[in-house]
Amino acid sequence: MSNASPQRYNNTAILLHWGLAILIIGLLVIGYFMPDLPKTPLRKLIYNTHKSFGLIVFALVLFRIYWRLSSVVPAHVPGSPLQVKLAHYAHIFIYALILVVPGVGLLASSFNHGFNLFVFHWEPLFPVDKELAHAIMGWHGVTAYVLAGLLALHVAAFAWHQFVKRDGLIRRIWFGVAQ
Ligand code: HEM
Ligand code: HEM
Repeated sequence: MSNASPQRYNNTAILLHWGLAILIIGLLVIGYFMPDLPKTPLRKLIYNTHKSFGLIVFALVLFRIYWRLSSVVPAHVPGSPLQVKLAHYAHIFIYALILVVPGVGLLASSFNHGFNLFVFHWEPLFPVDKELAHAIMGWHGVTAYVLAGLLALHVAAFAWHQFVKRDGLIRRIWFGVAQ
């Protein structure tokens, strides 16, 4: 049963938001550094870990979108019509990207080395085509960096609410009772 109140997101949404935030930020940081690593077994392990957590993120995001579409959420925070619209579309754009980024990673890996869930390995789903895999992986990088830019704006918006407007917006997406 949903326990969403008009004032804050429910515990499922809060857990998903912060769990995914940690995973996605971790994947962005690891993804940024790993292509430059020397070709050692450690690099393989890091790629494997990136793909495994990426797969978990993909599944969690599907669940999160399902949750979002089927739940009652707090009304938008008051603001000018433009601010409300910007926040609304920025959130939709974030949802789209957190689905597309791992989706494109999976697609690229489906034409190359396959993908891993820790010790379990799936062979490539399609006939191996390294050139195509490389081209698709390029889009994985591009979309991941667009996501990083959008998340920077998301955190800047949070900081503006928290430290300039001082409206305690964070309470809407944190455990406890909203005031
Ligand atoms: C990978 C990192 C993150 C992602 C993907 C993400 C995504 C989202 C999304 C999609 C929403 C809209 C929820 C909805 O209405 O469905 C949201 C809300 C929110 N996020 Fe994040 N977020 C991330 C990190 C952060 C961080 C680091 C902060 C603050 C330090 C933050 C603060 C908030 C706040 C305050 C809200 C509530 C906004 C409101 O009530 O209108 N988020 N986040
Ligand atoms: C939200 C989830 C994910 C994020 C945020 C993310 C982020 C990134 C980033 C920032 C890069 C560096 C791109 C570059 O510099 O060109 C990268 C590379 C990579 N990602 Fe992901 N990734 C995610 C999920 C996945 C998944 C699900 C897979 C595959 C199953 C995957 C496979 C790879 C591979 C193989 C590379 C290395 C590409 C290369 O060597 O050029 N990623 N990722």
